[in-house]
Amino acid sequence: MVKKINSCVLISGKGSNLLSIIKSARDYNFPITIKLIISNNKDAYGLKYAKKYNIPHKFYSSKNQNQFERNCLSELKKNSIKFLCLAGFMKLLSKDFINNFKYKIINIHPSLLPKFKGLNTHKRVLKNKEKYAGCTVHYVNYKLDSGNIILQKKIFIKNNDTAKSLKKRVLTQEHKLYPEAIRSIFK
Ligand code: GAR
Repeated sequence: MVKKINSCVLISGKGSNLLSIIKSARDYNFPITIKLIISNNKDAYGLKYAKKYNIPHKFYSSKNQNQFERNCLSELKKNSIKFLCLAGFMKLLSKDFINNFKYKIINIHPSLLPKFKGLNTHKRVLKNKEKYAGCTVHYVNYKLDSGNIILQKKIFIKNNDTAKSLKKRVLTQEHKLYPEAIRSIFK
């Protein structure tokens, strides 16, 4: 049995990636354990998974970024958290915060980075008449969606794809890619 690394998942919304990590982490061989979930949105649907799976969770408003990060750091310390997964967490973290967890924060983004950083990815991918879409798990650095890439999954764009259908098909891939990336980091 592996010694699991105490980890926290940060979310802002639906939490479907959170759910895939929670499910993977139930495997005794998975390298991390989810000790804490933090949301910057008190209505995030993902918080329901925290309750369902009995995982300690906190909501901190991120209106004041300094305060948000101070709250997070104190809770992360209290829970001896060593690794952070951003899963649909829609807020940039400061340089100071990231420095506390160098190469210990990862994120998932619904594009083949370095292409299409930021929001409204699928719409832009279609507008640009790309052949492929996909998703990327990467380390978090100070710049938006720019840290070193850990893993990517590419899918072929169909003629009849819309932003909605693409989002759905990419998300299905994200749910496999995120746990796979976590396993690959700690291999
Ligand atoms: C996912 O598609 C994730 O890649 C994206 O938000 C969605 C969250 O879904 N993240 C970003 O765009 C970050 N730049 P979820 O809440 O169901 O996991």
